[in-house]
Amino acid sequence: MAVVDLISHLDRSVSPAHSTFHSAARLRDAGFVEVPFSSWGSRLPGKGFVRDAGLLLAWNGDRGPFRIVGAHTDSPTLRVKPLPDTGGHGWKQIAVEVYGGILNNSWLDRDLAVAGRLILEDGSTVLVDTVDPVARIPQLAVHLDREVNDRGLVLDRQIHLSPVWGLGTSTAGSFLGLVAERADVPASKIRAHDLVMYDVTPARLLGDGTLLASGRLDNQVSCWAATSAIIETASVAGDPTKTFVIALFDHEEVGSESTHGAAGPQLERLLRALHADDESSFRDRCARSFCVSADNAHSVHPNYPERHEPGHRPIANAGPVIKSNANQRYATTAETAAFFEGACRTANVPVQWFVSRNTMPCGSTIGPIASTRLGIPTVDVGVAQLSMHSAREMCGALDPDLLMRALVAVGAS
Ligand code: CO
Repeated sequence: MAVVDLISHLDRSVSPAHSTFHSAARLRDAGFVEVPFSSWGSRLPGKGFVRDAGLLLAWNGDRGPFRIVGAHTDSPTLRVKPLPDTGGHGWKQIAVEVYGGILNNSWLDRDLAVAGRLILEDGSTVLVDTVDPVARIPQLAVHLDREVNDRGLVLDRQIHLSPVWGLGTSTAGSFLGLVAERADVPASKIRAHDLVMYDVTPARLLGDGTLLASGRLDNQVSCWAATSAIIETASVAGDPTKTFVIALFDHEEVGSESTHGAAGPQLERLLRALHADDESSFRDRCARSFCVSADNAHSVHPNYPERHEPGHRPIANAGPVIKSNANQRYATTAETAAFFEGACRTANVPVQWFVSRNTMPCGSTIGPIASTRLGIPTVDVGVAQLSMHSAREMCGALDPDLLMRALVAVGAS
């Protein structure tokens, strides 16, 4: 069952590096060969991948137009500051930095674990996940904040979001000492870290089983669908006249401008290594290629229908949403929408359409960046969800599989 596989992916993908680690294991099991990130040659295996921290690129094939699926491995969260030990009034606390556009309130009163990477003194990287909750951001009691339900909750991100993790005085190195113990490495060997908080509540089906609640649905749903699609394409529908590529980028939630983000050099570097021919034929090949930028979309919210465009109201379990924006916040064009819709039709997958209200600012994603950089026609699509950027989000349980089938169909179109 696809959704069981997705739930396992969601529960393991607790940080961007954990997400790529888990996807890499799936690719390896399916016969994809890992190429070291530091030494890409021009002779790449026919079926392979590279991975570094929160970035993973995989490919199948070496000729014909590219069929690229892009997604992002990061989610809005609280990142542990370089010197995390803080606190006062008898409590030990963790200094955290807001990463991306979190919904502040959604992080309160949740049991939080810590996961990410430790860089050791010999230069090696260790993945760590405390699994058990280690901290919590307690909300102020209603008795001490009598008007909160009428005037709304206002949180200062510097002052009010520090998780509590123990009693006593915070001394330098004490929180990282706990993390080191969980990672089974001596604390003295840690030189730097890249750690995020996450809610330990596992992904769960809801109600009649057609709804799915989890942290990080944006955008682990698309990471899972992209990885599943390339594995499926390589095993069953392998088309030797096309090159299927997936690009799972980091740092989308903070603007994509990093070495491992969509605005960085890595996807172009891979495509050029796969092409291994002259510049003009590379440009021609890109122009004949197609990119699906997969990132979740807003479902219509039953309690706030007025926030949505009246004629374009995606709903859960009604198929992938084609997102377009006249001001090019999405990369979708009439041609790329038609191509994607056609591929879905072939695969018997329904599609839906999203545009923002004219009075509502539109989000953006990796699509415009990929199409601007490489000149590859691109469509922005995604699974409809509610509570986007909450610590716990919700989507339809059937949509991830529909997206996966749509991506397989694009690979064959
Ligand atoms: Co997203």
